[in-house]
Amino acid sequence: MNKQQYWDNIYDNKNHNELSWHQSMPKISLDLIKKTKIKNHIMDIGGGASSLLDNLCEAGYDNLSVLDISQSAIKKLRLRLAKFNTKITYYVCDITKFKVKNNEYNLWYDRAVFHFLIHQQDRKKYLTILKNTLKKKGFVIIATFNKNGPNMCSGLEIRKYDQTKICQEMGDDFKLITAIDENHLTPSGATQTFGYFLFQYL
Ligand SMILES: C[S@@+](CC[C@H](N)C(=O)[O-])C[C@H]1O[C@@H](n2cnc3c(N)ncnc32)[C@H](O)[C@@H]1O
Repeated sequence: MNKQQYWDNIYDNKNHNELSWHQSMPKISLDLIKKTKIKNHIMDIGGGASSLLDNLCEAGYDNLSVLDISQSAIKKLRLRLAKFNTKITYYVCDITKFKVKNNEYNLWYDRAVFHFLIHQQDRKKYLTILKNTLKKKGFVIIATFNKNGPNMCSGLEIRKYDQTKICQEMGDDFKLITAIDENHLTPSGATQTFGYFLFQYL
């Protein structure tokens, strides 16, 4: 099974609100986005069928994009958000292979996707794409499992991050603005600890 089939299988077999990472109100994410004062040209990396875009559309944000490796996830999201479809561009793609117009986005948002990149060459590709895609002075929000979080996510090995490790990974072109920890309660009642990191592209 390749990576796309793996994720399609997950989305084909569960409703989005049954998935371990589901949040109906992604409060920390929305607060961080609000803090940046960015209102448009926002890219949700590996957004799957998450409720972030529902919340952003309802709140009046515009020119939104979402990318996911899973066609099934994007299909579900597109159907659910049909009434907002003029505001949203959808991409089915592996983030390490994404090609887009240069420096298009004001804000790059990634919750629980970067942590799947366990090979250095994939993280390198991700960062090159991020730098080619984000406007200078734009913002990046990355949320990963933190040091106390699980070693696996959705049955796959992940890399956990704390502030020092994520800053090393992002390099000197990004300045850390805020770091917040979250105890995420999964739909089955388990707790997963996340770290959210807000950076600005210098
Ligand atoms: C743990 S889920 C998080 C979903 C969403 N960001 C959220 O917080 O609700 C990980 C998501 O990343 C997607 N994904 C995994 N690897 C990816 C890759 N290499 N490129 C793009 N999307 C990927 C999966 O299909 C899935 O939707």
